Amino acid sequence: MSAERRRPLIAANWKMNLLKADAAEYCRDLRRGLAAPPEVDARVVIFPSFPLIPVVARELVDSEVEVGGQDLHPEERGAHTGDVSAPQLADAGCAWVLCGHSERRQNHGESDEWVGLKVAAAARHRQLTPLICVGETGLERKEGRTLEVLERQLLAALAGGPGPFALAYEPVWAIGTGETATPEIAQEAHRYLRQRMVEELGEVAAAVAPILYGGSVTPDNAAGLIAQPDIDGFLVGGASLDPQKFLAIIRCSG
Ligand code: 13P
Repeated sequence: MSAERRRPLIAANWKMNLLKADAAEYCRDLRRGLAAPPEVDARVVIFPSFPLIPVVARELVDSEVEVGGQDLHPEERGAHTGDVSAPQLADAGCAWVLCGHSERRQNHGESDEWVGLKVAAAARHRQLTPLICVGETGLERKEGRTLEVLERQLLAALAGGPGPFALAYEPVWAIGTGETATPEIAQEAHRYLRQRMVEELGEVAAAVAPILYGGSVTPDNAAGLIAQPDIDGFLVGGASLDPQKFLAIIRCSG
């Protein structure tokens, strides 16, 4: 299936940034921008940090923009200080959740198997769609292990048999570095991930799962990336903190 048949999905990962007032103003700017012509045909999701979710959900109510959590614990409740569960995210207004972002894998020692449990927990809850993040480090790419790493992360994430999901290819060496993957490098990884999904899940399930690119996406490089047949959208970090930049990325995608 070609990219033309998958609606672009453009997501903002705010990471640990913004305060309530900034978040509210941002959402108002975003709504105004999306309401202005020409009409945008893209799905848009914001991933704020946990304390900002209620503000963002309130500001975006009755809009097409969706909200997601940046992480979740595989269990539904219990003694897990500092964690949040799938039911809590859904209750707060989230429709999405990030699973396996490289900053969680690296800074919190999250294993491939742990990410798989999170994906399964989101899928079990049904109201939440997991956005599964995979990507190789610079060293792994230098050693020629990119596809092996992507396969290992993908298969572990899907081990619990997820329902609907989206994937984000985020090469670690491109995150927050200003060194974006070229459209050709990103397309090669996306095509590989699509092929492996077809082998694991079949043509139909693989064809409907969007594969986003993440890693130093800006309004300047977004058009070249989205033109690739297997790049269905973006997971944007730094540039998503400025609503005008995020809107520009949405506009060149949808
Ligand atoms: P940057 O866009 O800042 O490189 O971050 C990418 C990312 O990690 C999104 O999840």
